[in-house]
Amino acid sequence: MKTLARRAITSAFASLELIDNNPCEPVTKLLILLLLALAPSVNAQQTDLIANTDGRKTINLNGQWQIIVDPYESGFYNYRYQPSNDGYFKNAKPKTKSELIEYDFDSSGSLNVPGDWNTQTDQLFFYEGTVWYKRSFDYARKPNTRVFVYFGGANYLADVYLNGEKIGRHEGGFTPFNFEITKLVRDSGNFLVVKVDNKRRRDAVPTLMTDWWNYGGLTRDVKLIETPTTFVNDYFIQLQKGSRNHVTGWVKLAGDKLNQPVTIRIPEAGFSRSFTTDARGFAAIDFSADLKLWSPEDPKLYDVGIEAETDQVRDRIGFRSIETRGTDILLNGRPIFLRGVCIHEEAPIRGGRAYSREDAQTLLGWAKDLGANFVRLAHYPHNEWMIREADRLGIMVWSEIPVYWTIEWENPVTLENARNQLGEMIARDKNRAAVVIWSVANETPLSDARLAFLKNLVSHARNLDPGRLLSAAMERHYINDTTQMIDDPLGEYLDVLGCNEYVGWYDGLPEKADHLEFKSKYQKPLVMSEFGGDALYGNHGDALSRWTEEYQESIYQHQIAMLKKIPFLRGTSPWILTDFRSPRRPLPKIQDYWNRKGLISSRGEKKKAFYVLQAWYRELQQQ
Ligand code: GCU
Repeated sequence: MKTLARRAITSAFASLELIDNNPCEPVTKLLILLLLALAPSVNAQQTDLIANTDGRKTINLNGQWQIIVDPYESGFYNYRYQPSNDGYFKNAKPKTKSELIEYDFDSSGSLNVPGDWNTQTDQLFFYEGTVWYKRSFDYARKPNTRVFVYFGGANYLADVYLNGEKIGRHEGGFTPFNFEITKLVRDSGNFLVVKVDNKRRRDAVPTLMTDWWNYGGLTRDVKLIETPTTFVNDYFIQLQKGSRNHVTGWVKLAGDKLNQPVTIRIPEAGFSRSFTTDARGFAAIDFSADLKLWSPEDPKLYDVGIEAETDQVRDRIGFRSIETRGTDILLNGRPIFLRGVCIHEEAPIRGGRAYSREDAQTLLGWAKDLGANFVRLAHYPHNEWMIREADRLGIMVWSEIPVYWTIEWENPVTLENARNQLGEMIARDKNRAAVVIWSVANETPLSDARLAFLKNLVSHARNLDPGRLLSAAMERHYINDTTQMIDDPLGEYLDVLGCNEYVGWYDGLPEKADHLEFKSKYQKPLVMSEFGGDALYGNHGDALSRWTEEYQESIYQHQIAMLKKIPFLRGTSPWILTDFRSPRRPLPKIQDYWNRKGLISSRGEKKKAFYVLQAWYRELQQQ
């Protein structure tokens, strides 16, 4: 349990890193430290993320939740705009006929959880603001048992209350969080209230402008997690960088019996070894084992047991090594090409925020049809089903935090927020073999402040996970009419260069690609992380008519010819698998608030360009 003070200290130290990069006066530094000491209270009551919730005893709280739409946040602030002690989180009911209560969850509307509010009712389609959610539940308390409430994700700012008491706040729409409720939960008549606010802010992550729909709400699973008093809180079990049989990592217990033996068991590999946790409940693990390696061709997952005396957790874990050597990317020691596609977390066919195993299976199934062995999940961590299904199906994953376009680089609170989202993304998916690349940014404009910000994230990620590759979707520029240069200073700190280009759509006509070459300042592998153009499915014409399938098809034909000529290209993830909603795309009868760069339409129909890319990927598979 991270106390407020300890969390403040850790983040203050984290901010020292930030402050060192900041040339301001000592007085301002002190001020920033004070600010940061206050800032972390955003998640003060948040307990360390509990790893692998599916491997635990849980009670699902999904379903219909009562809601109150509150554009003026009058359930949170009084008329003087001061936080009220008597807000909607009290779930109050009039006790007498004279008592004045001006809200009532139980006779208000309801929404499905998980799910965004925008696609559940037309009234909330464009809505950005606060919606209050309430879920009543009974819970049979048990001795020597702790209870946590876990959220897979809530967009964007969530204030969480149980039985009228504040239990915590979480900022960031795409990463999980949990709070302990052992002391507050009662046998019956519990009411869990969550204020979810998806208002965009300049200092937030992402910031004001994005090219995706700002779906609000409790967009992912909500569950109660039951654990013993001392339990296996978290663990990291993966192959050491560059090794094919040496496993390193750690196990962390939480509770009062912290110093105890913990056994790692991999029955199928005939492996079992005990380690002893120290007084903090931490044990480093380090062992060799004869393991079949995970790969797209053979996505081998092992049943792994993490067994302490007081608690046991099972997980499905794959083991693979991922590294670079010069301009090559090596999976299990062998050079690979990442045949990929970008995906937004837009639910297939029905639209709205995707959240289920079925959504993941449909989207990844389409990627497989394309011949992909890799997906770039843009521009934020997707739900856990996507990662677990990619692990099971053998699809490598690029996972990214929404440091997108023009973030407030000089704002220490924004950096702390981005670091926190990065930490949560890594915490949730660090044991997934499928995840090979962490990305810290997309299309961010060059500046010293930006570089300092992103370097900070890069070193944070390397501290948390020394084994995976780091990348970002960077900018590039023309050095002459026919040569594009990749020399973004950020490239120095990354393992894999990501680069977005829209030759043929925002930059000239499709055939422009025929005369282009790419150069790089770095001896590193390149993933062309975005390229493509819009087409409305079923809209046909000649190859120079925008918005037609023929124009999009032509872009892909010219792109693929250009890409094949780039000597250091080791992967591609064109923009994008399916059409997705965007508030920046209003063109009537063509876009209608959809970005139409999908290879598949919003109704699941494959466009002509899909088959052009599929043919190339099949060709690569034969090589
Ligand atoms: C950008 C951006 C995407 C966006 C795409 C587009 O490069 O990274 O988020 O949707 O281009 O313009 O379609």
